[in-house]
Amino acid sequence: MKAIGYKENLPIEDVKSLQDIEIDTPKAIGKDILVEIKAISVNPADYKVRAGMPVEGDDWKIIGWDATGIVKEVGDDVTLFNVGDEVWYAGDFTRQGSYAQYQVVDERIVGKKPSSLSYAEAAALPLTSLTAWEMLFDRLEVANDDASKSILVIGAAGGVGSILVQLAKKLTKLNIIGTASREETTDWLKELGADSVINHKNKLSEEFEKYKLPAPDYIVSLNATEQHADEIVKVIKPQGKFGFIDDPKSFNVMPFKGKAVSTHIELMFTRSMFQTEDMIEQHNILNEVSKLIDNGTIKTTLGENIGTINAEHMRKAHAFLETGKAKGKIVLEGFQD
Ligand SMILES: NC(=O)c1ccc[n+]([C@@H]2O[C@H](COP(=O)([O-])OP(=O)(O)OC[C@H]3O[C@@H](n4cnc5c(N)ncnc54)[C@H](OP(=O)(O)O)[C@@H]3O)[C@@H](O)[C@H]2O)c1
Repeated sequence: MKAIGYKENLPIEDVKSLQDIEIDTPKAIGKDILVEIKAISVNPADYKVRAGMPVEGDDWKIIGWDATGIVKEVGDDVTLFNVGDEVWYAGDFTRQGSYAQYQVVDERIVGKKPSSLSYAEAAALPLTSLTAWEMLFDRLEVANDDASKSILVIGAAGGVGSILVQLAKKLTKLNIIGTASREETTDWLKELGADSVINHKNKLSEEFEKYKLPAPDYIVSLNATEQHADEIVKVIKPQGKFGFIDDPKSFNVMPFKGKAVSTHIELMFTRSMFQTEDMIEQHNILNEVSKLIDNGTIKTTLGENIGTINAEHMRKAHAFLETGKAKGKIVLEGFQD
């Protein structure tokens, strides 16, 4: 099968950083299904791993954690899917990824693709939806009756923010304050349902004062957590809840002690990485998001479709994502004959 892989960590300008390759098609065994991939999307995890996580052994490393496709084969223990089903999933950090024509993935972390979206439109969503859902409902335990409460989402116009804002808007009563620094991303955030948009290039406390915004009960930091740490402590409501998903080099919780703020970390890969007992929750979340799409509650976060799945297009996608200026998600669709 065709795939995109690499054997050494290189800057994205180097053509060897991501290469078109041919490898054997994997087989589905046990709880695995074999999926013929139709579209994939690109996440910051992809460039972080490609550039910074050394490859073990001599095999090609295949990354990618967002795919839509059709089930081609099922393992003996599979109960949730049949050959021919249309599926979507993010996948497992410890296995080969979705930059390939076929991929094996555990059925417990796969959901039914929304039927109202194309493969490309749907590919934008699995990883970010799982992250946003787990952060809001599993980590922060945001309740549905929080009519008087508000949430600040830092870096809200990117991949994760674009779905988190929609889920918060449609599934809770929270007042949503998002951050964006450009006209394009500010407009996008308002379209997605943010009640107010403030600029993360300015001090958050000054923006709160300028727009007379209430101290947020929840803060979710999706980007540059280290940069905003002091301001987060300043603006959050006493006894509030704070969560982050990015990779600060270090994070000190002690400044939160005065306000008794609880701190939460979300990692979308934890359930599959540790095969947790509730791993099937990712199947349930993906099916729930699929329903919300098909009944028109939320929409795709597709920002740009870069074209067919090949190394040249993928290098372009990584290079753009590395600028930190994504609006929604970047998607690639179909392999060239
Ligand atoms: N833990 C997990 O499970 C998990 C899952 C997914 C992602 N992540 C991590 O979470 C981070 C965000 O992912 P993503 O897919 O949303 O990224 P993304 O799409 O690349 O985010 C781009 C957005 O970040 C905003 N931004 C840029 N600089 C910022 C700053 N200094 N302060 C605040 N916002 C800033 C930009 O807004 P403007 O253009 O308006 O400035 C842009 O809209 C990445 O580090 C990723 O690796 C973790």
